Amino acid sequence: MSDFKAQLNTRVAEINGDLEKVFQQNLDTPEVIIEAMKYSLFAGGKRLRPILMMETCRALEGDLNIIRPLAMGIEMIHTYSLIHDDLPAMDNDDLRRGKPTNHKVYGDAMAILAGDALLNYAVETMLQGTQGLSGTALTNYISAMRCIMGASGILGMVGGQVADMISEDRVISLDEMDYIHLHKTAALLEACVQSGCIIAEAEPATQGRLISYSHRIGLAFQIVDDILDIEGNVEDLGKPIGSDEKNHKSTFVSLYGLEASKIKVAELEKEALEMLKPIGERTTFLQELASYICQRRK
Ligand code: IPE
Ligand code: IPE
Ligand code: MG
Ligand code: MG
Ligand code: MG
Repeated sequence: MSDFKAQLNTRVAEINGDLEKVFQQNLDTPEVIIEAMKYSLFAGGKRLRPILMMETCRALEGDLNIIRPLAMGIEMIHTYSLIHDDLPAMDNDDLRRGKPTNHKVYGDAMAILAGDALLNYAVETMLQGTQGLSGTALTNYISAMRCIMGASGILGMVGGQVADMISEDRVISLDEMDYIHLHKTAALLEACVQSGCIIAEAEPATQGRLISYSHRIGLAFQIVDDILDIEGNVEDLGKPIGSDEKNHKSTFVSLYGLEASKIKVAELEKEALEMLKPIGERTTFLQELASYICQRRK
């Protein structure tokens, strides 16, 4: 196993441990909602968003203990978005993270509520992280949290999902396609990097480079997702292939073809790496993460 893969596994285990702790306390609520939330949260996601956030902060020598609750929050928000994305009223998919989708196990009503609950619990977990903070550390924390919530909502992920839904059954323009990719997917990845920069108080020039990096890997992430929806392998992906065609979605691949899409991903990877180089060796992991995202098969 490469050093990078070993490091990635360690980070995934750390995030899983942190998330498990949040669910260890006894919560006085019907058991089924906790079960449904945990079912999707612990089904085996790649944890790329919290890793991206923590590693940005680590590269800039920020305080990892401060950022940890924000990293947990974004993974809960991401997981809620997947539960809702799979619902019959949205993409109507049966498999996620290698298991039957949340609504297949718990029913539509409970899956909707599990998504809602993860979003709320994410905010509560993040707010819990303000305890013990004061002065600039607190101000920075609140502005990172605002950035995460903004990127998750109508100006970010939800806005992108809306555009994705109303674009079904028609051919869209490149601008519309960009809007969808940049909002439904890239916004959260950008918020991860930006939060890392805010907590670690990055220099403006460094922050600018890191944001450009995240923009590119965010875009590449969704193009790869669209490619894998055609030529991926269900076992590796843990979700169905052919979902986009089934739902008559316009994707980068449906508009430009597989070859042009792969070329675009390679360009974005190269540009993302270029952005990091001047920041130096401390971005080695982030560079490897960009290549992993662009070359992933799952
Ligand atoms: C899937 O995200 C949804 C998209 C934004 C394309 P991931 O590929 O990160 O899914 P998990 O978290 O590993 O399940
Ligand atoms: C959805 O994009 C991204 C989200 C915000 C959940 P897709 O619908 O293509 O994601 P997958 O392929 O189902 O993971
Ligand atoms: Mg979708
Ligand atoms: Mg989907
Ligand atoms: Mg997809």
